[in-house]
Amino acid sequence: MEKFNASIAYDQRMWEADIKGSKAYVKALQKAGLVTQNEMEQILTGLDKVFDEWSKGEFKIKPGDEDIHTANERRLKEFIGDPAGKLHTGRSRNDQVATDTRLWLRDAINTLKELALQLISTMVERAAVEIEILCPGYTHMQRAQPIRWSHWILSHAVALSRDVERLEDIRKHVNVMPLGRLVLCICNTEIFFHSPELKFDSISINSMDATGQRDFVAEFLFWASMCITHLSKMAEDLILYSTKEFSFITLTDAYSTGSSLMPQKKNADSLELIRSKAGRVFGRCAGFLMTLKGLPSTYNKDLQEDKEAMFDTYDTVHAVLQVTTGVISTLKVNQPAMEGALSPDMLATDLAYHLVRKGMPFREAHSCAGKAVYIAESKNIHLSQITVEDLQTVSPLFDKDVSSVWDYNRSVEQYSAPGGTARSSITAQIEHFRTWLQAQ
Ligand code: ARG
Repeated sequence: MEKFNASIAYDQRMWEADIKGSKAYVKALQKAGLVTQNEMEQILTGLDKVFDEWSKGEFKIKPGDEDIHTANERRLKEFIGDPAGKLHTGRSRNDQVATDTRLWLRDAINTLKELALQLISTMVERAAVEIEILCPGYTHMQRAQPIRWSHWILSHAVALSRDVERLEDIRKHVNVMPLGRLVLCICNTEIFFHSPELKFDSISINSMDATGQRDFVAEFLFWASMCITHLSKMAEDLILYSTKEFSFITLTDAYSTGSSLMPQKKNADSLELIRSKAGRVFGRCAGFLMTLKGLPSTYNKDLQEDKEAMFDTYDTVHAVLQVTTGVISTLKVNQPAMEGALSPDMLATDLAYHLVRKGMPFREAHSCAGKAVYIAESKNIHLSQITVEDLQTVSPLFDKDVSSVWDYNRSVEQYSAPGGTARSSITAQIEHFRTWLQAQ
């Protein structure tokens, strides 16, 4: 049962947060007159020694150290003796663990935000450098219209930028002080404190909520699920683009592996792992929500399950963001293959727009362009090879100037509205991101 009950194996990761919380707490106890100045100083010195041991990797976990809170207090007592027992005055492990978890997660959010920003910045700069490159754009995985390769990159950067903004929203819910709210609902006014050194934005307004809620952990797990969904989507596109059939991109050796059997193979393991880790993160999120469902009020030991879900999710997303940045910054783009994959049928929409510009309603123009596609298919020629005479059987509005349609650069350049794939529009998106990145 001891082994089953203990969380020290994993919650020792919160050693620093635990000591930080205790140092702030003992100062509040002294202000409230519950420990003397001298006792406070002994406790603070003792906590510094515990801190030292952890940071040097010298802290020895002993049998009976159920969790990080008991372990730190046990060690404090070994250093300073009886005054150590006063640290827990008016405090429960239930508010202590809530405080530690919030402090830890707050730092974790900062780190993940940094990594996500690095990735977005890598994507934006790549988009800026490779703005000239065109490639097919797909819907339903079918060839749709020519786009700029940068347009594809930035589409994924936008999703990631929303993830960064969502992280900021979570921070608001994480950065709330639960310490001093006690086990149940006794708010001891004497030690109801808001320590500036813990840098919480606000104080929990209800003690039962403060100790019994882990919605902020669940929110983080959802955040990670959404973020990794975006990354898996991007990974999936890139896996496809890296196949010999597409050959749009080549991963560097550092981010791919060979086959133990087939010497010619280069497998996109990095991207496959990014894609696969999504399942793991979703599992953590769904699993923890199930733990929370139907729990009675306030603290129940079930809540201890939050830690492994949170740590594992953090470690996974941390690695995935770093590897994705590595993949994106090192992959090689095969411009001839991308542009060679464009074909005149992808300009059928432009053919319809050509008629729209001559006054034809779009529905009718769409149908005329469809008929032209049919003619090309039945004659086994490219859409661009149909004669003007043949086009005129579809609509008298067709004229010699239709030849201007068969130009991929002209095609992308006409989409210059905000969000479009024209050079000016992509440049505006890049500028938007650069300003946004600076504001983060
Ligand atoms: N290790 C526990 C956790 O992670 C700390 C709180 C224990 N509280 C208690 N009353 N047993 O949730």
